[in-house]
Amino acid sequence: MNVSEAVAYRRSVRGFLDKPVDVALIQDIVTRAARAASGGNVQPWHVDIVSGESMAKLKGIMAEKTANREMEKPEYHVYPPGLKQPYEGRRFEVGETLYGALGIPREDKKARAIWFSRNFQFFGAPTALFISFDRQMEHPQWADGGALLATIMLLLCEAGLDSCPQECWAIYPKTVGSFLKLPEERILWTGLSIGYKDSSDPVNSAMPSRAPADEWLVTHG
Ligand SMILES: Cc1cc2nc3c(=O)[nH]c(=O)nc-3n(C[C@H](O)[C@H](O)[C@H](O)COP(=O)(O)O)c2cc1C
Repeated sequence: MNVSEAVAYRRSVRGFLDKPVDVALIQDIVTRAARAASGGNVQPWHVDIVSGESMAKLKGIMAEKTANREMEKPEYHVYPPGLKQPYEGRRFEVGETLYGALGIPREDKKARAIWFSRNFQFFGAPTALFISFDRQMEHPQWADGGALLATIMLLLCEAGLDSCPQECWAIYPKTVGSFLKLPEERILWTGLSIGYKDSSDPVNSAMPSRAPADEWLVTHG
């Protein structure tokens, strides 16, 4: 799989097979992904991989929290308050695409909430990672984290694995922070579920569209 093929193939996968992932392979992929560019070569990211017994433990903790509808105060806005158009429209559309693939109508808030809580079981993935930054970091360094995340996701595709990035973990900064023993100066950014795609899961048939390039691309000269 070349780079163009990996870019075209990659999707956020939300249903995984119960098939173990070699944690040494993930360590290797994350290490190689750190070739991603970062402003000033600061390499602002920190990565925690969770697998095996630790993963089972975290899933257990989260099953209890989601059953009790416990939530925490997020430490950053996943989306800016009052997200403008056309951005809010795109966000709405992807929700419709996903829940459409699952056959859950908009009015069925309960079924949507139950399905959303699958995020916190990593959609059945056996492995995940979390990316955090020193709290000193600002927008440019968070953007560098995006370059790392994208590189990891593409290398996973090359290795026959799939993934789903998950900022929903921003709802549980304390739980994840204490589980991973993140130092106080660290802020959790995102999770990434990793595993082998369950192609029979209808959610994986969703194909989120992209805005036409003329909405956001300008060429000068
Ligand atoms: C940083 C980041 C965080 C995301 N957080 C979530 C999440 O919490 N839950 C989820 O189901 N999808 C999440 N997504 C996936 C997006 O919804 C997805 O990338 C987008 O709809 C485009 O679909 P695609 O990745 O399949 O191309 C996230 C994506 C990114 C890049």
